[in-house]
Amino acid sequence: MDYVVQTNALVKKYGQKAAVDNMSVHVRKGDIYGLIGKNGAGKTSLMKLLLGLTIPNSGEIKLFGMSDLGKARKKIGSLIEAPALYKNETALENMKRFSYLAPTSRERMKELLELVGLGDVGKKKAGAFSLGMRQRLGIAIALMGDPELLVLDEPINGLDPAGIKEIRDLIVDMNSKGVTFMISSHLLDELGKIATNYGIVHEGVIEEITAEELLSKCRVSLKIGASDPKKANELLHESFPQLETRVEGGMIHVLSEVSDPAQLNKLLVSSGIGVYELSSEGTGMEDFFIERLGR
Ligand SMILES: Nc1ncnc2c1ncn2[C@@H]1O[C@H](COP(=O)(O)OP(=O)(O)OP(=O)(O)O)[C@@H](O)[C@H]1O
Ligand SMILES: [Mg+2]
Repeated sequence: MDYVVQTNALVKKYGQKAAVDNMSVHVRKGDIYGLIGKNGAGKTSLMKLLLGLTIPNSGEIKLFGMSDLGKARKKIGSLIEAPALYKNETALENMKRFSYLAPTSRERMKELLELVGLGDVGKKKAGAFSLGMRQRLGIAIALMGDPELLVLDEPINGLDPAGIKEIRDLIVDMNSKGVTFMISSHLLDELGKIATNYGIVHEGVIEEITAEELLSKCRVSLKIGASDPKKANELLHESFPQLETRVEGGMIHVLSEVSDPAQLNKLLVSSGIGVYELSSEGTGMEDFFIERLGR
């Protein structure tokens, strides 16, 4: 299968330290691929490699199935960190400045401004824009040339809830028109509603998982805190062989439906296991990420 983005064992070092440590990434056409990780995890470093802004120490990159990256990168629009705007110029003037990257008619620029919700800002200078407006203008600029892939580095960072929703809606709308996305964030909340796939980045290492897999892993119906979780888990399985469980972070996560949690409690306590927590959960998604990313 041809991926829109495929890397194999990609490494980028700054000094001795690998910011990108053996990352193999797979983004398919139509994905909204969320790169999630803490500050300094390596998200921006990966994006810069994909865009050709830095050069890898080793590993391979294929874009749109091609190894001719110069050609492939013409199909990518990007917004890395904050957009570098001309403060004394309007949205449209800024678009013109950047159109040397992707020649675009004035009409199309206006359409793009309309699309990102900046259709009516007129003569207002970019220096007077809110953070959300600047971000949206950055996205409009990235959209010149009608890219097939948009790489957005923390597009929602620092926005208020209304701003977040606008950007999210914009992404979903463009995705439905066939644009593939790679978006980074350090907040699960921002991506959780829209991502189809995740690359969980931690200290330069990436773990890929689909939103579906993530949901099924996080479908926790009951959480049990026990004095000896390993032994408790074994006891549960002896008495209830059908029970689906996972021991994580010193807790037993019960995945299958449990009609009578007291029954499990009784079994453990009568076997000499201390039960200090027995709680139900709708989703263990936060736990799942905390486990991988640390607090
Ligand atoms: N130009 C550089 N020179 C030296 N070290 C760098 C450089 N760029 C990044 N690093 C280091 O590489 C590591 C990964 O940084 P990166 O910016 O990719 O993380 P990030 O996941 O984007 O973090 P954030 O959420 O803060 O944006 C960090 O330890 C960072 O200090
Ligand atoms: Mg970053």
